[in-house]
Amino acid sequence: MEALLCHKLGDPALPTSDPSSPIAVSASHPVPALASPTSVRVRVRATSLNYANYLQILGKYQEKPPLPFIPGSDYSGVVDAVGDAVSSFKVGDRVCSVAALGSFAEFIVADEKDLFLVPEGCDLVAAGALPVAFGTSHVALVHRAQLKSGQVLLVLGAAGGVGLSAVQIGKVCGAVIIAVARGLEKVQFLQSLGVDHVVDSSKENIIESVRNFLKTRRLKGVDVLYDPVGGKLMKDSMKLLNWGANILVIGFASGEIPVIPANIALVKNWTIHGLYWGSYKIHRPYVLNDSLKELLSWLSKGLISIQISHAYRLSEANLAFSALKDRKALGKVMIVMENSSMRSKL
Ligand SMILES: NC(=O)c1ccc[n+]([C@@H]2O[C@H](COP(=O)([O-])OP(=O)(O)OC[C@H]3O[C@@H](n4cnc5c(N)ncnc54)[C@H](OP(=O)(O)O)[C@@H]3O)[C@@H](O)[C@H]2O)c1
Repeated sequence: MEALLCHKLGDPALPTSDPSSPIAVSASHPVPALASPTSVRVRVRATSLNYANYLQILGKYQEKPPLPFIPGSDYSGVVDAVGDAVSSFKVGDRVCSVAALGSFAEFIVADEKDLFLVPEGCDLVAAGALPVAFGTSHVALVHRAQLKSGQVLLVLGAAGGVGLSAVQIGKVCGAVIIAVARGLEKVQFLQSLGVDHVVDSSKENIIESVRNFLKTRRLKGVDVLYDPVGGKLMKDSMKLLNWGANILVIGFASGEIPVIPANIALVKNWTIHGLYWGSYKIHRPYVLNDSLKELLSWLSKGLISIQISHAYRLSEANLAFSALKDRKALGKVMIVMENSSMRSKL
């Protein structure tokens, strides 16, 4: 089978012809065998890029697999083979899931308990982008911060993978949404989704812009801060938070880990949630399972939609990583397997 191999650490956005490129497509990688009676082999249709996949190949992610490895986490596809004891799936079923590694390949094997049926009517490529981004935002906003209708949600990095999913889930919850993104294209896109206020971080002061908006709506401040960016944006955002606010620490796309002063958290009664979604699979698997089932039902009802920004073939994975690295993504960047009508939009 075809599989993308990371054979050394480095920048996967480099052209694959560059000798420093850490990734290469192998055309003859062995098809994975069913590992147990409850194993299911899936022919991958689409797999999404998450910032963590990029960091992992760079060697800057908290989980460092031994080399060589096949990167990739969330994916969708069609069941190709099932173990003797599999009871919930049959060959031909459309499924999606998330793996620790290995989805940048034509086939992947998972245990049946880790697979989710993609409802009729849901696009299979789109379903491959749902687990990590929407799963993270759903657990963060609904399970941890318990976002309520009418509360003010501030989303940083709002046009990126997790950011855009937070915007959509915030809307389903009935929150007033303030989104922060860089550049006119992202701002116009977020406005077209009906976001209440968008701050263009390339030219506006976030504190001033948000305070003016809150004043016009007679709102006091931000109730929930969703932060996948960190750095200065997070530091400024803290000045906008209400008494009793929830801070969701999601990631550090800026490369700068912010400091949240404990004395201010005390005085303002803030709750700070560190959230590592992948670890729910080990510590609270039922939360993650219920969350993904709810999201798939929202997707089938049209309450959320998945914005695919760029789609590439496996052999073009370096271009996919470039789109992420260069902050071009409006939603999700995907790898779509063969027979696809979707082409790169770069
Ligand atoms: N905690 C968890 O379980 C979990 C789960 C998924 C993702 N994450 C983390 O969340 C972060 C975002 O992931 P993602 O998949 O949504 O990535 P993404 O699609 O690339 O989005 C990241 C956003 O961050 C903004 N950004 C600000 N400064 C940046 C910089 N210096 N470089 C790159 N982007 C920058 C960009 O928006 P502008 O260009 O508009 O500023 C971009 O849209 C990552 O740190 C990732 O590891 C955490």
